[in-house]
Formats: sequence, structure tokens, C-alpha cells
Amino acid sequence: MSTHHLGAAQPSPDDTADTADTPVLLDRREGPFGEVALRRRGAHFEIIANGTFLMDTSDGRSERLLISAALDSLDSPRGAHVLIGGLGVGFSLAEAAQDRRPGRITVVEREPAIIEWHTQGDALLAPFAGTGHTDPRTEIVNADLLDHLRTTENRYDALCLDIDNGPDWTVTESNDSLYSEAGLDLLEQTLADEGVLAVWSAAHSRTFEARLRARFARIEVIEIPVQVERGIPDVVYLSSRV
Ligand SMILES: C[S@@+](CC[C@H](N)C(=O)[O-])C[C@H]1O[C@@H](n2cnc3c(N)ncnc32)[C@H](O)[C@@H]1O
Repeated sequence: MSTHHLGAAQPSPDDTADTADTPVLLDRREGPFGEVALRRRGAHFEIIANGTFLMDTSDGRSERLLISAALDSLDSPRGAHVLIGGLGVGFSLAEAAQDRRPGRITVVEREPAIIEWHTQGDALLAPFAGTGHTDPRTEIVNADLLDHLRTTENRYDALCLDIDNGPDWTVTESNDSLYSEAGLDLLEQTLADEGVLAVWSAAHSRTFEARLRARFARIEVIEIPVQVERGIPDVVYLSSRV
């Protein structure tokens, strides 16, 4: 399991110590989907959502690869409209923005607090998004991804999704349906004919992979080794109709 998505963690009001090993609570908010908290641990920041350690800023390789591998897989990536599901600390946005190929970058994030940690006050997470926030191609949409998929008129060339620890370990139950047949129907409706669906996971999901294989002509499963000792690799699933 990667440092990106570890296990359950409950921030406590006593999180005030400031050593490399001890987290310092910087902000916590009650959001529509439970509490979200931002902590600093040494040089790194951590996001805890609904009691689950969602990610930290220590290693963004697999979050970046989610974008680069999706773009590389397109026959015509120039001008591609990329959707990034989940802003998080911004590694995926940084990758999309440093790439000249996307024509539009739409980031869908449901937690206002996470957007504010990038854009308001000290904007502590903004550096991890690289040039993403000043890039004219970027639009940040504050919405639930499932709602956005149901209502958008966009057809995306690359749907790059990293809103959970994976299809089998969602942050809230409301996200479960994204990986179901109904969720895949929704994703297919918003995917351009020759587009690619890229899904990040902290572990293999055989059930989800079987669902992808049943409906897409081309599937690639990419493993990304993690820096944690004995950690299992992160996985990116790439799927397309062509
Ligand atoms: C693991 S982080 C994203 C990591 C991101 N790839 C990066 O590079 O930092 C997951 C993000 O998805 C957001 N999220 C979770 N469920 C969501 C949903 N249903 N709709 C939109 N955003 C969601 C979380 O608030 C969090 O910011």
C-alpha cells in the first residue's frame, strides 16, 4: 500500500507537536461528506477525509502517471480535454499542466476546503499543483464527480479518476457506484469515442478489472512500485474502446 493512501487516521485536537514524526493539525472542516483535515508532518502535508488517511505530498509518481499514461495512450492527444477526478494535493493537476498536449483541464473536487487549501490564504497545497492553478486551460469545478458526470455536456478525451483509495476502498459509500456497471455506463456516456478512462487504485481490484474487460476493447494495467517497505504497488487501469 502506498503512502498516498494509507489506513484509517483520526485527527485529534491534541495534534500540536511539531516533529518530523508527529502530525500538526493545520485545519479541519466539517464538510458534506464528513470531516476533512489538513495536517503537516515534517516537510509534508497530509489530507484526512472522513477518518481515512487519503494522501500525503511525499510521492506523486503514480498520481502523475495517471495523467501521462492516459495522454500517451491517445492516438491524437493534442488539444485533449482532460478531466481530473479529485484535486487532492494537486500532483495530477501539476502533471497535466506541465504537458502541452491537453487543450482543457477540468478538475472536479467536491470538498470546498481542499480547493481553499490550494487557493486561499497561505494556499499551502498550491506548490504541489505546479503551474496548474495559473494555467489558462484549467477549470476547477466544486462538485461531486458523479453529479458532474450526470449533468455535464462535455465529452472528455481522458477521464482520469483518483477520488478513492481504489474501487474496493472508497472514501464514502456514495462513491461506490462509480465503479459499478451503472457508474461505468455514466463514464462511457461522458467519454469521447476514442477517449481513455484511467482509474487509480492502491491495489488490484479483480472485480473492477473484469468489469472493464467486459466492456472495453483495450485494457492496460500498470503497476507503480511504492517507496514503502513491503508496500504493494499502486495500480492504474487504462481502458479504451479502440
Ligand atoms: C486521493 S485524492 C486525489 C489525488 C490527486 N490525484 C492528486 O494528485 O493529488 C482524492 C480527492 O478526491 C476528492 N473526492 C473524493 N470523492 C469525490 C467525489 N465523489 N467527487 C469529487 N471529488 C471527490 C477528495 O476530496 C480528494 O481531494
